[in-house]
Amino acid sequence: MATMEIVGGTQLKGTVRASGAKNALLPILAACVMLDGETNLTNAPYLGDVNIMLRMLSSLGIRAEHLSNDCIHIVNQKKIRHIAPYDLVTAMRASFFVAGPLLAKTGFAKVPMPGGCSIGTRPIDIHLKGFEALGAEINIEHGFVQLKSKEIRGAYYKMPFPSVGATENLMMAACLARGEAVFENVACEPEIVDLANFLNAAGAKIEGAGTPTIRVQGVRSLQGISSYSVIPDRIEVGTFMVAAAITSGDITIENTCFDHVSFLAEKLELMGVTIDHSGDLIFVRSNGTLKAIDLETAPYPGFPTDMQSQMMTLLAVCEGTSKIKESIFENRYMHVPELVRMGADIKLDKQYAFIKGVSKLSGADVRSTDLRASASMVLAGLVAEGRSKVHGLKHLRRGYHNLAEKLIGLGAEIYQ
Ligand code: EPZ
Repeated sequence: MATMEIVGGTQLKGTVRASGAKNALLPILAACVMLDGETNLTNAPYLGDVNIMLRMLSSLGIRAEHLSNDCIHIVNQKKIRHIAPYDLVTAMRASFFVAGPLLAKTGFAKVPMPGGCSIGTRPIDIHLKGFEALGAEINIEHGFVQLKSKEIRGAYYKMPFPSVGATENLMMAACLARGEAVFENVACEPEIVDLANFLNAAGAKIEGAGTPTIRVQGVRSLQGISSYSVIPDRIEVGTFMVAAAITSGDITIENTCFDHVSFLAEKLELMGVTIDHSGDLIFVRSNGTLKAIDLETAPYPGFPTDMQSQMMTLLAVCEGTSKIKESIFENRYMHVPELVRMGADIKLDKQYAFIKGVSKLSGADVRSTDLRASASMVLAGLVAEGRSKVHGLKHLRRGYHNLAEKLIGLGAEIYQ
């Protein structure tokens, strides 16, 4: 199994370029099921999860290829198959994003139930209730979700929780519905705004993306887009910001959108990190004396759950005691035992983690259990005394493009 060996202690310095956003690109790729003709995506990084989605599109009869320099070319001209393969949906639950587009485009979708994963059971009840509101007949058997509808019609649906995936799936399905759909209490993440901008560029009529209420006026068809650039990956940017903070570094991050990470920046500044920004650049430096803070994960614009494990690593080596409340997923503390093995002082109590800062972490062999937990292991290795070996890089490669190379470019001592 691939490992990454990190020698701790280097202060990161220099400039690094963030890639495009995985969590914007995945639903945008799924939306291509509905676009007739050719589409070109730029700022579209080569990632494990993106590769799975490209294979998903190919299995549905759509030509999807990753060109060099972060470009993806899609050709959607043939008849679409409407059954998503089991192995791809179980390999990546975001493959379930094709359900809405398939239903809208073909009137039928047969998609395996996405499994849970290490961070939680990850049900899809909000997706299904929304599809029902849009007039779909739902049948679940043999582990497949079958959606059928002669005609998707606009409807009103208020979500019990602002689910990111359900917002994206239902917004896509409503694009080709008859009449207007109104969704309330939806998620407001930047990735949803990017998806809405992409769909509107293809001829959709979506208003309100990024606010708790989205209105979609159905249209008859959507056309391919000659070129669309995906937004920067705010979680990768946030990971670099924490990397600079934890190594008492001084870095510049290119290809960023500061508004998307302003809440994280606020928390880091409270800890004593210096952060400035100009255009698509963010400047982060730390003198190494950082104070403990409390934080609670929440739907955007609150503190992102995808940055919780990275921040915990930073808090583990700050002065004082911090408290984290993980309010989005029920099991997103798998990185804690690994951090404790490196000398961190962290106690868990249900949704809460109590972190007592220690003067140093010691290098160790650590395993990664999920995408963001593996990023927190890398961050711990950057600051730990001696050598650390992060096992299970397949998780990391799902969501970070060339992370080791980018950190080495900032002076980190990493071997893989
Ligand atoms: C998206 O997952 C992201 N994935 C996740 O990022 C991110 O952590 C999450 O949003 C929250 O921001 C992608 O965009 C591909 P949710 P998603 O539906 O859509 C419950 C990463 O590291 N829920 O907003 O699955 C659910 O159980 C990944 O890049 C229901 O109860 O998240 C969870 O507790 C990890 N019923 C909460 O809502 C539903 O039908 C948030 O889930 C749907 C969700």
